[in-house]
Amino acid sequence: MPLIRVDATKGRSEDEIRNVLDSEAHLSGFNEVSDAIQFLVSDAETFAAVQVDTRDSFAADVITGLSARHKQLPPKYFYDATGSRLFEEICRTDDYYVTRSETALLRNIAEELAAGIPQGAALVEFGSGESAKTRLLLDAAPQLSAYVPIDISADALDQASAMLARDYPQLSIAPVVADFTGHFRLPAAADGRPRVGFFPGSTIGNFDRDGAVRFLRSARQVLGDQAALLVGVDLVKDEATLSAAYDDSQGVTARFNKNLLIRINRELGGDFDPDAFDHLALWNPVHSRMEMHLVSRKDHIVNAAGHTFSFRSGERLHTENSHKFTIDSFAQLAARAGWSAANTWISDEPRVAMFRLEPHP
Ligand code: TRP
Repeated sequence: MPLIRVDATKGRSEDEIRNVLDSEAHLSGFNEVSDAIQFLVSDAETFAAVQVDTRDSFAADVITGLSARHKQLPPKYFYDATGSRLFEEICRTDDYYVTRSETALLRNIAEELAAGIPQGAALVEFGSGESAKTRLLLDAAPQLSAYVPIDISADALDQASAMLARDYPQLSIAPVVADFTGHFRLPAAADGRPRVGFFPGSTIGNFDRDGAVRFLRSARQVLGDQAALLVGVDLVKDEATLSAAYDDSQGVTARFNKNLLIRINRELGGDFDPDAFDHLALWNPVHSRMEMHLVSRKDHIVNAAGHTFSFRSGERLHTENSHKFTIDSFAQLAARAGWSAANTWISDEPRVAMFRLEPHP
């Protein structure tokens, strides 16, 4: 096995070291990042801290979130292997229109989007999952040289990358396991190439406004000055359509939401009873967003991450927001991060939008 060395003493934060390590591990052909981390731990003491940090950040976030007056958890922890699978299942339900509308839109405009992708460019996708929609772009833009899928779930990324490598033999595929909201480095495959970012799925709506601006700024930095960013945005619409999308009649979204508790049980020694909670999806008109909560069905006590948390009957644990925009409200948000909306496309109903952003001149 090759030995990966990351110089941990260059004044990087622990988070940065973890991301560098993650991408380095993948570039070196490790299937599981944990393999690489274990391997490195046995090799050099510096990296023991990295492994501890990876675990501790989940524990720390759970302790902080469940101790807050309004209990909440960061949505990135939804996406363990089961969560990623359940999310793909949500995308295939009749009630969750976002994937359906956006896929149909991408199919219609693929040629137009492809026309704006320079020769030899690298396509960089934030939160790539199974990369299903990406194929529409890859098929329409054979001038692409590299594809850099970034995802927090190593399992989802490994599977998708293997299939893409098989189906697009000309394309250099350089996956990065990382939390794309943090700092990460693009792999060498993207060096010296014009870069086009791809951020579909209305994931931008899962940030709060300031978080969205921070993300868009850092994407500008990562992609460079000649970049473009293709962003999929969900539009404000009637409440019934929105509510059904986040509380589908097959109960997949409810299972997805509760999987977070099962993950805490498994990884942090928790004793959550998922049946002691109801899934709740509600429209918040003040913030123009759908909110996902888990609502305690009774007064009870839960242990997790070495701490004890009490839930009152009816108390909510807030797990996700999904902001909905108008064309103008999103263009304004993008402008705060130094991007202008060069082009906008809108799908058939239920409507979602695709923006082509370019750096402000
Ligand atoms: N980006 C998706 C969205 O906001 C994520 C999502 C869909 C989601 N359904 C969900 C997140 C249910 C949490 C719970 O539309």
